[in-house]
Amino acid sequence: MTENLTRPMYLDGHYAPVPDEIEAYDLPVTGTLPPELAGRYFRNGPNPLPGEDSGHWFVGHGMLHGVRLRGGRAEWYRNRWVRTRELEGHPFIREDFTFDRTANPANTHVIQHAGKIMALCETGFPYGVTPELATIGPDDFAGKLTTAMTAHPKQDPVTGELHFFGYGFLPPYLTYHRLSASGELVESREIEVPGPTMMHDFAITEHHAVFLDLPMVFDLEAGGMPFRWDDGYGARIGVMPLAGGPVAWFEVEPAFVFHVGNAYEDAGGRVVVDGCRYDREAINGVWTQIGGTGHTAPKAAAFLAARLHRWTLDPATGTNTETPLDDRGVEFPTLNDAQVGRAGRYLYAVSDGEIIKYDTAGRTGAAATVYDMGTRANPGEAEFVPAAHGGAAEDEGWLLSITGTADGGSDLLVLDARDLSFQAAVHLPRRVPAGFHGNWIPDAS
Ligand SMILES: [Fe+2]
Repeated sequence: MTENLTRPMYLDGHYAPVPDEIEAYDLPVTGTLPPELAGRYFRNGPNPLPGEDSGHWFVGHGMLHGVRLRGGRAEWYRNRWVRTRELEGHPFIREDFTFDRTANPANTHVIQHAGKIMALCETGFPYGVTPELATIGPDDFAGKLTTAMTAHPKQDPVTGELHFFGYGFLPPYLTYHRLSASGELVESREIEVPGPTMMHDFAITEHHAVFLDLPMVFDLEAGGMPFRWDDGYGARIGVMPLAGGPVAWFEVEPAFVFHVGNAYEDAGGRVVVDGCRYDREAINGVWTQIGGTGHTAPKAAAFLAARLHRWTLDPATGTNTETPLDDRGVEFPTLNDAQVGRAGRYLYAVSDGEIIKYDTAGRTGAAATVYDMGTRANPGEAEFVPAAHGGAAEDEGWLLSITGTADGGSDLLVLDARDLSFQAAVHLPRRVPAGFHGNWIPDAS
């Protein structure tokens, strides 16, 4: 697809929004869909209305795309805007200068917890949606949630609790929250940080929550997403005991991280955090590009800027050791959700034209297996779907990714996660714009 360098990147090519909602049934499939895949793959992303310029890639109205798989068939595809108060035109800042947390685009992620499917955006409350992608409405957990909710909550694979946080432009800048396995908001804890920063993701380990307080600071002058790099802010990672007690902050080399791959406690009691790290130059380049104001480089370059990186934080000594794990440019790290917060071996990520499997067991780097997309392009986040039988290995399962095709359409690509071998491509009825995050909602749930 040719690029139009006069249009903002987020309105052009594979990023361009689609104009309407459609559905299609009995989708054509190349290859063999594993019959074990019984459920729905949902993916969220921004989709401005026809003729609308949202002003920044991150703030377009949320649109969910769903593909229903069962019995080796792709039964349907459908796409639906999340019917938020933001879509209806309600302002985020009310006339009395308070925030309307229901007026957010719900455009970043879609998760399931305690039987609820929720579309998430870090500026506000989650929106419940049905398995058919109809909007239920905003959810503040029976009035208990008083901050925004990150789009990247973490479910503890053992307790089933959902850990998350909200960040804000005004104090409290950072608040940790916990939902019980049954979906009740059972804890909210304010965390002191020097100022308001863009905190897109975080991590948990078995005993800790891990916060990334990095130098993309709030600045109302900065436009659509009002954040900019600040050399003076410093950079630190906080390790907070879930059971209570002070946060231990570790100074780190200034950098920005949208996405954590995983974190865990090692045998020596250190907290290991793997994530996709942008240095100052890289994040400034990406930020200009996705803000639509510097469209002079190929779009794919935006995703060539982050590197898989490891921070090893030692509470005994207060020291941080940083290790680059690979020199490829990657984003959207994923894993087997059973390993969240626990020492796992494998992370998956996407690059320009590649889906990558990392084996992080090595001490100095991560060994990569690469699926070359060939004529496909713009791989979306590769969601890991575990094989649903007891004793399955960590990488036994599939990767699902919505990708661009050579003719400007989109496929749902299915790879075997063990060796990244091609299993199937579900041909979707039209292009799915490049977006953010997705999830597999298995029928059993
Ligand atoms: Fe994200």
